Amino acid sequence: MTLTGKAKLAGVMGWPVSHSRSPRLHGYWLDRYGVDGAYLPLPVRPEGLEQALRALPVLGFGGCNLTIPHKEAALGICDRLDPLAERIGAVNMVSVEPDGSLYGTNSDAFGFIENLRQGAPDWDAAAGPVCLLGAGGASRALIVGLLDAGAPSIRLCNRSFHRAESLAEVFGPEVEALEWEERAGAIEGTNLLVNATSLGMSGQPPLELDLSLLPDATLVTDIVYSPLETPLLAAAKARGNRTVDGLGMLLHQARPGFSAWFGREPEVTQELRDFVLGE
Ligand SMILES: NC(=O)c1ccc[n+]([C@@H]2O[C@H](COP(=O)([O-])OP(=O)(O)OC[C@H]3O[C@@H](n4cnc5c(N)ncnc54)[C@H](OP(=O)(O)O)[C@@H]3O)[C@@H](O)[C@H]2O)c1
Repeated sequence: MTLTGKAKLAGVMGWPVSHSRSPRLHGYWLDRYGVDGAYLPLPVRPEGLEQALRALPVLGFGGCNLTIPHKEAALGICDRLDPLAERIGAVNMVSVEPDGSLYGTNSDAFGFIENLRQGAPDWDAAAGPVCLLGAGGASRALIVGLLDAGAPSIRLCNRSFHRAESLAEVFGPEVEALEWEERAGAIEGTNLLVNATSLGMSGQPPLELDLSLLPDATLVTDIVYSPLETPLLAAAKARGNRTVDGLGMLLHQARPGFSAWFGREPEVTQELRDFVLGE
């Protein structure tokens, strides 16, 4: 759509940023809702982050999303932080306040849970333990989202045990750190199995996991979305488990930013999923 001089502005800062699907995703919604606005890729080097964020109000931007490697550094730059971003230990969304100050929040936990709600509407987080594989950057948002949604406990398995242990220390007794070798046993009696490692992603080795102890009713999800059907999801589906792929997490985490900066509540539809994948 053609922009006017009143176009609303937002974007995504990353380094590099050329791989980000966010401009395509927001661009789809801008067209779909006929919004006079633009969402730009903003290549910002780590050493330039503070300057770039401080330029947002100067340039009339409503705010921006942050991707790798800026999510943690932004915690120390924003003027005010949503307590949720502090618990997650990362900011993925910065909004410019009316007085020009910067408010940092995080929509990754929201995106993860909303994806499960859309993909498996009758799944109840409170119904049993979660087995979460991976304790990297994404995992902390998943833990916050799952605990806030009512998950009674999380069994956290990670190759580097110390990273799982550190997260268990932060979140308390609901999160139990387990060795990577314990993962096949850790899925027994669970209500949800999540892969939050990079295993199974195109170009990475598959996740090796014996599913024989997985209950039939356990929901299985993967935050890797390239490929859309990871080997884990294919194996879970083949034995009759319900599955939810990871693309929806990316799409749903973008909703709060679009609504804050462009004033419309956007929808995650099949057409959007096809459009974002059709890059
Ligand atoms: N759907 C979405 O919106 C979304 C959002 C964020 C991330 N993601 C995807 O999620 C994945 C993880 O992202 P991240 O930011 O958390 O990455 P990260 O910080 O680099 O963490 C990678 C995780 O994978 C584990 N891992 C890597 N290679 C392994 C191997 N050979 N064996 C066992 N574990 C291994 C790491 O274990 P160690 O700690 O031992 O290294 C760590 O737990 C990526 O594929 C990313 O694209 C998707």
